[in-house]
This record gives sequence, C-alpha cells and structure tokens, in this order.
Amino acid sequence: QDTVDWSKVIYRDIAAGKTVQKIYNWRNYPYPFMYGQPDPDLFNQASWRLCAMQALGKKEFDSLTSDYAFADDPELINFIVRHTLPRRGILARPEQILVTVGAQNALWMAGQILLNSERSAAYENPGYHGIREILRHTGCKRYPVEIDEHGLPPEGLPPKIDALFITPSHQCPTTTTMPMDRRHELLRLATEQDFLIVEDDYEFEMSFISAPSPALKSLDKDGRVIYVGSFSKSLFPGLRLGYIVASEPFIRQARALRVVSLRHPPGYMQRTTAYFLALGHYDAMIKRMRTVYHKRRKITLSALRQANLKVAGSAPFGGSGFWVEAPEHIDTEILRSRLADNGVLIEPGAPFFEGKTVPRNFFRLAYSSISSDRIPEGIRRIYQAVKEY
Ligand SMILES: Cc1ncc(COP(=O)(O)O)c(C=O)c1O
Repeated sequence: QDTVDWSKVIYRDIAAGKTVQKIYNWRNYPYPFMYGQPDPDLFNQASWRLCAMQALGKKEFDSLTSDYAFADDPELINFIVRHTLPRRGILARPEQILVTVGAQNALWMAGQILLNSERSAAYENPGYHGIREILRHTGCKRYPVEIDEHGLPPEGLPPKIDALFITPSHQCPTTTTMPMDRRHELLRLATEQDFLIVEDDYEFEMSFISAPSPALKSLDKDGRVIYVGSFSKSLFPGLRLGYIVASEPFIRQARALRVVSLRHPPGYMQRTTAYFLALGHYDAMIKRMRTVYHKRRKITLSALRQANLKVAGSAPFGGSGFWVEAPEHIDTEILRSRLADNGVLIEPGAPFFEGKTVPRNFFRLAYSSISSDRIPEGIRRIYQAVKEY
C-alpha cells in the first residue's frame, strides 16, 4: 500500500505542463494527417537493417560497447560536419558539436545551462510547447512574443533577456520562414543587448519548392547562436538523435551536463546512423521524400482550397504540413475527436499557444504520413465535420 503523500513530497510539478498526447496507433486510421511520423512507404528499412547489421559487426565492437561520455561517434560527427551543417551554411569543428538524445534533449540542456530564476528568456507564441515547458522548469522569467506571418518580429522582444528560443527556418507550428533581414536584425540585437539565441532547426531537409534559407547560425559572427539539429524528422523520431553546434565553452558545459544526466546516446545507434548517412541511403531517401511530399503538398493545398479551409501558415520552401485556421466558432479539440471517430487524424493547435484564453480554431495538418490518394477524401471529411459543427 502506497502511503506517501505525493502532493507534499513532489517539489516541482513537471506533469502539470500542457503537452500533447501522442497517438500511437495512428496507422490504424485511414486518414492520418499526422505530423512528424515516418511513412513506412518512404523509409528505406532494408538499408537501415543492413547498416544496423554492419554496426553490430566484430570490427565495430568498440562503438557498440564503449562508454562515449566524453566523445561521440567520430563517423557520425564527421558526417554532420562535412555534409549536414554545410547544407545549412554552417562551418563547425568537431569540438563544437555534441550529439544529443534528439532536439528536445539539446534544448533542455540549453535551458539548464543558460537559465535560472534570475534570468529571463523570450520565445515564440504560438510556439513549440516543448520549449515552453523547458523554460517553465528552469524557473526563469518568461516572455512569449507574438509571431506574425514572418515569424518572430525583432521589435517585439522585451528589452532585457538572457536567451531567445526560436525556430526561424520553419516556425513551429505555423511553418513560416523568417526573412533574411529579420535574421540579421535579431543577430544585431543579440549583440547590442547581449543575449544568446537558441536556434531550433528541427526540420530543414524538406525543401522542394525553393532552397531553405541559411540557418541563423551561419550568419552568426560572434558565437551567440546555439544551434540545435535533429534526425527525428528526416529519419525517425524513435531514433532519438540530435546535436548541438555551439562555441566550445558551451559544448564543454553541455557535455558535462549530458554526462550527469544520461552519459551519452547509445553508440550502436550513432554508428548505425553514421553508416546510413555515409553510404548515401539518407540522401537518396530525402530525395525521394521531397518528390513525394511535393506531390502530396499540391494535392493537399488544392483540396483545402476546395473545402474553403484557410491555410494560416505554410513553408515557402516546402515542409511537411500546413497550419490551418478553421472558422472562429470551432474548437479543434472537439473537431479532432469527432474526426477521429470518422477515421481522420488532425492535431489541434491550442497547446502551441501561451496564455489563459488561447485561440482554439487552429490545427496542424501534415501530409508526411498519408498517401496522396487518401488526401482528398480526408480533407472532404474535415470539410464536412466543419460544416456540421
Ligand atoms: C519544433 C520542435 N522542436 C524540437 C522537437 C524535438 O525533436 P526531437 O524528436 O529531435 O527531440 C520537436 C518535436 O516534435 C519540434 O516539433
């Protein structure tokens, strides 16, 4: 019998945060407009299996069994330095990189290292709820900044902050891309007002309409940007691999924090991923995904137009979904539940907003895990549910 009064002994109520419940059986739904999940028809599982086998081989005994607390897999770091970062315009040395358990772990470490109850941080509203929660746990003063169609307006920043957490290339959840002049202005302000920028570049590979804008980090001349990357969206979220790119003093702290919190992401996964990347499977898959997503995007957009549903945000370079605005009287949480009964999955937008009364009529509609032929009927069902609401 449990006799502990948990409400007294628990000092910080971590579970009180507004997080989004994941639906694990989403593949059972015929119309899954699910965000951030791999499509089994697009993922190259056969090559992944071969890479996993290779990473289990005899000559890989060290990467499989070693403690990588104070170093990461050199093969993985090498690929990130030579291939992944240059695509974002970033030049970095291996010492400036730390492999993390996804972007979430990287963002959390940044919060832990930079913030406490005497410091303050700004972030996007609407924005990624995972960042909001990280900041809440640090106890810092928090300033949500209203975003517009170009992302976070630099003039909206409060005067004295220590850190800004931001998703400039693919704003979460609206998917908009911050123009270059804003990026330069943010960096200028960071220098002038002496704050750091944590850049969450969680999804950049899906550019099929135009090239993605260079990362903020690539424009950073004085080491103010802490860059966070991830393989969750381009490979799969269950992989749990991401990375931080930052100046060495920061990486030293992050590595020390990683050592006390989880030591390191498994060497076996790092090596398997390194093989998948280095043998060209990753690039081939991304290329295929871009072609398929492009087609799905066109179909989704045309179906949304026919259904009179307003696209409130879309990435100019491509991306994997839309931010949709339903008529004002609609609560998309209720809509979600009704649609789920009818085989359609959407993601309600309210958890992305900060504040007591938040807009409830937005939702995220991703085409990354639904086949093209199902999109029109899925959107027709959404249209019908909106009409009958
Ligand atoms: C904007 C944003 N940042 C970070 C993350 C965390 O990504 P990861 O799976 O790499 O931890 C997510 C996950 O959905 C996200 O949407």
